[in-house]
Amino acid sequence: MPPSPENSPNAVISEQAVAAAVEAALAAIAAAGDTAQLKAAKSAHAGEASPLAALNATLRDVPADQKAALGALVGRARAQVGQALAAREAELAEAEETARLAAEAIDVTAIPARALPGARHPLSTLMEQMSDIFIAMGWEVAEGPELENEWFNFDALNMDADHPARGTQDTFFVEPEERHLLLRTQTSPVQVRSLLDRGVPLYVVSPGRVFRKDELDATHTPVFHQLEGIAIDKGLTMAHLRGTLEHLARAVIGEGARIRLRPNYFPFTEPSAELDVWHPTFKEGARWIEWGGCGMVNPNVLRAAGIDPEVYQGFAFGMGIERTLMFRNGVQDMRDMVEGDVRFSQQFGMVV
Ligand code: PHE
Repeated sequence: MPPSPENSPNAVISEQAVAAAVEAALAAIAAAGDTAQLKAAKSAHAGEASPLAALNATLRDVPADQKAALGALVGRARAQVGQALAAREAELAEAEETARLAAEAIDVTAIPARALPGARHPLSTLMEQMSDIFIAMGWEVAEGPELENEWFNFDALNMDADHPARGTQDTFFVEPEERHLLLRTQTSPVQVRSLLDRGVPLYVVSPGRVFRKDELDATHTPVFHQLEGIAIDKGLTMAHLRGTLEHLARAVIGEGARIRLRPNYFPFTEPSAELDVWHPTFKEGARWIEWGGCGMVNPNVLRAAGIDPEVYQGFAFGMGIERTLMFRNGVQDMRDMVEGDVRFSQQFGMVV
């Protein structure tokens, strides 16, 4: 409990008493570690209940001839304590301000702990890039359903009931069987849908997902992507098909790309061809790689869509997107494309 006039009623003023009070006050002020402690020291040593106030109060009773000298003594003492208080107060305030600023400081150069923004899948960006090449030539982009009617996937494409691709070993049929629904095995049903929806002349590409009963391994996946193209107009020939595919190959794979057509069979094109592509800088060296199928649209397909094949002709083609990515970018294992590891996607650039 700090001394006070009440609990030290017998305070006697003297030089020593004043010096002791000042010494105690200065020690308490110096010992105050923060503004709260300093406030307590101030009230104990400079407040109304302080020893100095008590000594000051005794001035009343001192003999008249000593009053002036003792009064000056107490006055100097109080001034000294007041100055010490003010100095310590400024010191503590500055230290506290410095500490507060340090605590609130923000390092604007620090690396933020944000989540990675991710990357679009290279298959998506490749399909977009391929579609854009056709948009630039005035073609349209069409989408078809992944859950497809058997008629569009097979019958309308001139694939009869005995065609081996219809077999349950290749195709995911969807129950109940009598609804004739399946997961499309190719994007070619969009040829027929586009003919029916848009009529002729027709210039359409259709990228999308297709399904076949394959095991997932380095070169197969049961879910993959194709890009289909169909052009129907008056007077289209195989030369137009070749020129279109050559342009596509150069734009997607590189200026040095070349294509080759080898005779083949598809029920929905006649004549039909296998499309191969060659490029001098393929990862495993310059060589021919099978890319897709193509041909002149079979008159039966046009008839199924109510179009007179004597007036309109055209070509169609289809190629695998996964294959394209594999030989264009040297991807060795198809499983990398389906695992969804962002580190795979990031290699192809952060396209948004
Ligand atoms: N749909 C065929 C396939 O998946 C490719 C193809 C498309 C062939 C268009 C000819 C014309 O193998």
